[in-house]
Amino acid sequence: MPGDSIIVQTELPGVSVRRGKVRDVYDLGDEILLVTTDRISAYDVVLPTPIPGKGRMLTQISEFWFGLLAGVTPNHLIEVVRDQAPPGLEAHLDQLRGRTMRCRKSKVVPIEFVVRGYLAGSGWVDYQRTGSVCGVPLPPGLAQCGKLPEPIFTPATKAEEGHDENISFEAACDAVGSEVMTDLRDRSLTLYKRAAEYAAQRGIIIADTKFEWGLCDGEHLLIDEVLTPDSSRFWPADSYAPGRDQESFDKQYVRNYLTGLVKEGKWNKTPPGPALPEEIVRNTAARYREALERLMA
Ligand SMILES: Nc1ncnc2c1ncn2[C@@H]1O[C@H](COP(=O)(O)OP(=O)(O)OP(=O)(O)O)[C@@H](O)[C@H]1O
Ligand SMILES: [Mg+2]
Repeated sequence: MPGDSIIVQTELPGVSVRRGKVRDVYDLGDEILLVTTDRISAYDVVLPTPIPGKGRMLTQISEFWFGLLAGVTPNHLIEVVRDQAPPGLEAHLDQLRGRTMRCRKSKVVPIEFVVRGYLAGSGWVDYQRTGSVCGVPLPPGLAQCGKLPEPIFTPATKAEEGHDENISFEAACDAVGSEVMTDLRDRSLTLYKRAAEYAAQRGIIIADTKFEWGLCDGEHLLIDEVLTPDSSRFWPADSYAPGRDQESFDKQYVRNYLTGLVKEGKWNKTPPGPALPEEIVRNTAARYREALERLMA
C-alpha cells in the first residue's frame, strides 16, 4: 500500500532541507515540513537499520497530543499530510503521507525543556552524586526510577553537535531571558502534568519528557514532536517498581541492546552505529505500536 513503505531518507528536489537525526525538515517559506523518517538514533548516533512504521507512529502520537493539549498552549501544527500534498509537491505524496506535519515556521528557543516526574537516566546519576538534579534539591532516600514529590523542570542546552548538557534554570535565563523562561517552564510543567495524568489512565507512566518551543509571529508555540517514545521515557505501569531499571515503550530497549555490544567491546558509541538484528527491530516496532495503541485506544 502506498505510504506503508519504509523510508530512511526523503528527497524533495529543489526544496531546501535540513536533516536531523530522525526528521527531514523542509523549508517552504512561512511553513516547514517536518518529515519523520523510520531512522532511529541512540546515544546521538543514527543507526543504519530503520524501524518499520516508526515515522508514521511518531507522527500520529504527536498529532494526538497536540490536539489533546491545545487548551494549554498554542502549537505549530497546521495539519498532518495524508490525502493531499502541499501545493507543488503532489508528485511526492507517497513519501510524505502519514509521516509529515505541515508546521508554522518558528525561531527555535535554544533550550531543551525537560520535565521529570521520576528519577531516571542522567537525573538519577546526578541525584546520586549531588542529592539534586540540575541544581533542583530533592529529598534524601529516593530510589532509582522513584517518583518525585513534584515534577521538576531541568533545562538542557540544545547542542548543535554532540550531546545536550544539563544547565541550571538561571543559566537558561541568562541565555534566553527570564520572562520567556519562566513562561515556557510553567507551560512545560502544565503540559507534562496533564499528559502524565492522561497516560496513567491508560497504563503508561511518562517518567520524563522534553519539549521544544519556538517564536512565531510574536508568540511562543509548542514545536517539534511532543510526548513520543523518542522524546520521553514511557514505562508500563503494571510492571513498574522503583529501585531498578524499568521495562519501557521507548528507545531504552534498543539502548539496552547497544549497551550489551559496548560491554562486549563491539561498539564504542561513536558513528557508524551497528546494524540491529531482526528480532531487535521487530520488538522495537512492537513497543512503539503498543505505546500508540494504549495512548490512543
Ligand atoms: N516549527 C518549527 N520551526 C522550526 N524548526 C523546528 C520546528 N519544529 C521543530 N523544529 C526543528 O526541527 C528539527 C527536527 O529534527 P530532528 O528531531 O531529527 O533533529 P534532532 O536530531 O533532534 O536535532 P538536531 O537538530 O540536533 O539534528 C529540530 O532541530 C527542531 O528543533
Ligand atoms: Mg529531535
